[in-house]
Amino acid sequence: MTIAQGPSARTISTDPDWWRQAGVYQIYPRSFTDADGDGLGDIAGITSRVPYLASLHIDAVWLSPFYPSPLADGGYDVADYRNVDHRLGTLADFDALVDALHASGIRMIIDIVPNHSSHLHPWFQEALAAAPGSAARERYIFRDGVGPGAAQPPSAWGSNFGGPAWTRVPDGQWYLHLFAKEQPDFNWDNREIQEDFLTTLRFWSDRGVDGFRVDVANSLVKDLSEPFRASIDRVLGGDLPIDGSDPLYDRDDVHAVFERWREVLNEYDPPRSAVAEAWVPRERRLLYARPTELGQAFNFDLLLAGWNPREFHDVITSNLNDAAATGASSTWVLSNHDVVRHATRYGLPGGADHNAWLLGSDAAILEDREIGLRRARAATLLVLALPGSAYLYQGEELGLSEVAELDDHVLQDPTWERTGHQEKGRDGCRVPLPWTRGGESFGFGPDGSHLPQPDWFGELSVEAQDGVYGSTLELYRAALRARAQLKSNEELDWQGRDTEGILHFSRPGGWHCVTNFSPEPVDLPAGVVVVCSGPLQKGLLPTDTTAWMLQ
Ligand code: GLC
Repeated sequence: MTIAQGPSARTISTDPDWWRQAGVYQIYPRSFTDADGDGLGDIAGITSRVPYLASLHIDAVWLSPFYPSPLADGGYDVADYRNVDHRLGTLADFDALVDALHASGIRMIIDIVPNHSSHLHPWFQEALAAAPGSAARERYIFRDGVGPGAAQPPSAWGSNFGGPAWTRVPDGQWYLHLFAKEQPDFNWDNREIQEDFLTTLRFWSDRGVDGFRVDVANSLVKDLSEPFRASIDRVLGGDLPIDGSDPLYDRDDVHAVFERWREVLNEYDPPRSAVAEAWVPRERRLLYARPTELGQAFNFDLLLAGWNPREFHDVITSNLNDAAATGASSTWVLSNHDVVRHATRYGLPGGADHNAWLLGSDAAILEDREIGLRRARAATLLVLALPGSAYLYQGEELGLSEVAELDDHVLQDPTWERTGHQEKGRDGCRVPLPWTRGGESFGFGPDGSHLPQPDWFGELSVEAQDGVYGSTLELYRAALRARAQLKSNEELDWQGRDTEGILHFSRPGGWHCVTNFSPEPVDLPAGVVVVCSGPLQKGLLPTDTTAWMLQ
């Protein structure tokens, strides 16, 4: 297979603000490329694909957790924060990957998971062996139970993955875990925890890592005063209050943690970047993104919006206003490893229950792959024209749909078991990538893949799309390449046609981006079409299509 190369070798930019308008590509390492044939993707596999990554014209890779982990939650259960899972490689392999990316002009952002460790982390094992009230237990959140025999959990708090947020240990105490029971929550009032994460930030920054994606940044600090107050029920998708009053999520005091982190990140030249994953109301999100804290926070508003010009317009306007008011830069996300892929979402009926579709429990919910992909391409092209950073998820550049046909017995997401098989979970967007039309695991690796790939992956493979005019892969390449010219500043001007089902905005330098959400083809503004998410119809922009124009 030949991989189209960029125009010339790129070098890392010296711009300290490189992250403000970056194109960032998320790699879920166990599902990217398997070099050693154990069915799990690895670091050497990623390194072998650096030419492919360079051909995408991205600015940075965001690498999901690659740390030693028993994989109770896809690696978000970390047993050692300053090492590489031996199934994925070694620290030397990691260094080689960073060097190869940098040599191709690509920065490296890594995931850091501070809310909880794995239950196999030495500190949690030490806590289990230690007595109630010991210093070892103080690193986590242990409490006595309530009721007769203290046999009831200390509070009714629920885990994000279903079931209770407390698990009992043999001596009768309970520990808190906002996710799976294999992910005990750290006690962030503990100085040792606070200091250890600073050591981890320095450890990876010293190795040349350029930035950090901070997992569940909004839950580190908790109000653990007793009696415990009720928290919102995440299992039922409750909305957080906007005043920081929930005992578990989005507490005001969490910002002191990130102010300290920013001081450490600023010890480096250029300062290391950071982006918060914080599922909080918009008004609160911008607090995490302040320049004195992380600089960016993921904005999931478009990911939650329907295919609707009014919603897109409002989300874009409000987020750009927020960024302008605080000095942060906006972020845009359509897909990641936690949600149904956007090529599928846009192909389901508006407002459809994704989980019911995945379970096949509602026969009325049908996926239209053609519409889904057309809209996904249009949405991506729109997002790539916006000021701010675009976070892309591996496989979306191939137009992959969600893999719904995973049998129950192959599911890995802890959500499946913890909800008593009520929620199928996130495995359908984590199926290993197809690199070739056929062959062993569609080129993912020499000996199988840890989640089964469907037959239709072949026609969406890199091999099937590479160099093919009009393919989704070539669309991403063209757009990411042209996007470099949009970055001279962070301005956007609406051109006022949004009420007709058309979103039209301009960027400096004569760039225009037009998306047609309406059912009929529409005129394009004057200018030259530079990139288009689908073919024009007699010079008109068809429905569900975006064009970039240069005037
Ligand atoms: C974040 C991650 C998700 C993980 C959870 C617990 O939301 O994106 O994949 O399961 O945190 O670490």
